[in-house]
Amino acid sequence: MDKTLRFTLDGRPIEARLGETVLEAATRAGVMIPHYCWHQALGNPGNCRMCIVEVEGAAKPQVSCRLPAREGLVVRSISPAARRAQCSALEFHLVDHPLDCPVCDQSGECGLQDYYMDIGRYKSAMREDKAHAGKRLALGPHIMLDQERCIMCTRCTRFVGQVSKSHELGIFGRGHRQAVDLVPGRALDNPYSGNLADICPVGALTDRDFRFQVRVWYLDSTESICPGCSRGCNIFVHTSTRRPWQNQGRRLARLKPRFSPEVNGHWICDEGRYGFLDFDSKRLGRVMRLKPVSEELSWDRAAQEVAAALRRKPVEGLAVAASGALSNEDWLAFKELFVDTLQARRFLFAPEPDQAGTEDQLLRRREKTPNLEGGKALGFGTKIESLGWDSLAGDIEAGKVWGLYVIDRDPAQAWGGRSRELLERLDLLIYQGPRQCLAGELAHYRLPATAWLEEEGHFTNFQGNVQGYQRALQPLGAAKPDWAIFADLERRLKP
Ligand code: FES
Repeated sequence: MDKTLRFTLDGRPIEARLGETVLEAATRAGVMIPHYCWHQALGNPGNCRMCIVEVEGAAKPQVSCRLPAREGLVVRSISPAARRAQCSALEFHLVDHPLDCPVCDQSGECGLQDYYMDIGRYKSAMREDKAHAGKRLALGPHIMLDQERCIMCTRCTRFVGQVSKSHELGIFGRGHRQAVDLVPGRALDNPYSGNLADICPVGALTDRDFRFQVRVWYLDSTESICPGCSRGCNIFVHTSTRRPWQNQGRRLARLKPRFSPEVNGHWICDEGRYGFLDFDSKRLGRVMRLKPVSEELSWDRAAQEVAAALRRKPVEGLAVAASGALSNEDWLAFKELFVDTLQARRFLFAPEPDQAGTEDQLLRRREKTPNLEGGKALGFGTKIESLGWDSLAGDIEAGKVWGLYVIDRDPAQAWGGRSRELLERLDLLIYQGPRQCLAGELAHYRLPATAWLEEEGHFTNFQGNVQGYQRALQPLGAAKPDWAIFADLERRLKP
């Protein structure tokens, strides 16, 4: 049974659940007690001593991450005695910590900087030189280690032990020589390694992609959903449009996990985190007719011509290949255009092979697309079956399909060397999507659509959770959301 306990923290009543520590209950209530080693998902080894508090009736200060909340407990975290103890713990962590802040990527989101501003001992008692250790040690494809900055909180070793279960890191040496390092012969290359940069509170583990790209105070943050697979992990999108020159012209600076207890907890996978960093490459921004005469069109003219072309031959010979990256809003407009108005019968929306990949027991799902469920809710995959790429190729070769409308899929990934020949057989090829691919090169009409960061909408994940995402960037060129393109065509095709 869920029992509630009440105790007092700095004169404020706090409610705790049975079994919770004082630090957990305080954090849940929004009261900040300094801490490094405790992490909600990684436990409380009690080794950083930053969360030390004064407890009425206790002979000595206590670490609040290991202090069970008890009815009637009176705790002080900002009293002079508690502050003195926290300040001493911080001084100890800073004994060998280098003054790297001007060049450290953690600067601006660093636990040492933040606490030092509040409780730092501004006059150091240390006279000895700082001890030196390894710097710029590339642990794997994504993470760089700086041993001098490490405060031995052990969050990283607990992560590879408890979460990724890949055990690449350990603590080696004792006393003054103690250091986090790779287990001999190993590399930090597990599919979740990027999370180590998030949980390291001090800049000892930094993200190799993000290093020296942009200062964190120039980043804008937007709540979003990762479109990398059907789990739909909750993320923050950090963009650097105010200082793009600092980020080599990239608008998307980095993706960070956003806590969601039902979907992804505290983590995201590296596939999602690093899979979208080329967001602005090969982007489409112009509305084009490419055949028979190449010409840039206005949206109005393009919609008029595409609508006429879709009606030119019997609908039985028209196939539509759609991506599970469509939002719920897009799927609805897609159905209204292709099913309700045009009454098309040949659809391809199954993720294989180009939108399917590796899965595991932690987060990664086989379908590498965020919203097949949104399509299912409207009948795609339940009432309406999906063609396979092979059967579609057979129908094109047999002359049964004269037209193909491709939405954000790349047939070349499924058809390989046969792609060009198959696509060139078609009387009408329309490509709609955010980036260039072979279908976009060979299309009669190429319609630029916004990508997920440039629009707002909803994805339904494999668990059935409908999750909203916000716009983080402005659309490029004339690109429009898919639903707006479908709605325009539908208006023109409606009898
Ligand atoms: Fe309590 Fe580290 S958070 S000792």
